Amino acid sequence: MNNKKNIAVLVSGGGTNLQALIDAQKSGIITSGKITLVISNNAGAYALERAARADIKSAVVLKRELGSQEAFEGAIVDLLTENSIDVIVLAGFMSILSESFTSRYPERIINVHPSLIPSFCGKGFYGLRVHEAALEYGVKVTGATVHFVNEIPDGGKIIMQKAVYIEDGDTPEVLQKRVMEEAEWKILPASVEKVCSEM
Ligand code: GAR
Repeated sequence: MNNKKNIAVLVSGGGTNLQALIDAQKSGIITSGKITLVISNNAGAYALERAARADIKSAVVLKRELGSQEAFEGAIVDLLTENSIDVIVLAGFMSILSESFTSRYPERIINVHPSLIPSFCGKGFYGLRVHEAALEYGVKVTGATVHFVNEIPDGGKIIMQKAVYIEDGDTPEVLQKRVMEEAEWKILPASVEKVCSEM
């Protein structure tokens, strides 16, 4: 029986969330889908190395070369279509997608964000900056959120969340690592399995 959903993972950097998905596929946490494509908007992303090691086809799409957001998104749509992709996962993908892209794939695009939405999210909140903002504010609990992507940055329906405690002496880097280990790398694979199994 092979009715697994085809998953594309969009990345920009280190790709530890991509790695968590690859590992979850190997260990049987993800059984209803298969990562068949990785797309990066950064040719130097270490995530591409992780894809190659796991024998997953990858592609690089550069906005700079394509000249416009429209052409950039068009190239991604072409790749998704050519590869019969059912589910798109944004795993540290640091480019905001327009409504013309997101509206093509309602409840088919999943994003992981390193805070408890609606705190510390939206335009300008990405990567380490999210943790800097949480520490600056002085919250005692943060976490991660996996949600569907719509036209509002970090505004789509929430799929899963997990809380993580802030500890005395945390730096943005230390907090980022704890949020990844305790929350992101767990709820992202679990959410991907949930969405694929319910499709
Ligand atoms: C992760 O913490 C992810 O949640 C965050 O960037 C990091 C990427 O790490 N994403 C965002 O901030 C999106 N708004 P990774 O490349 O090692 O998965």
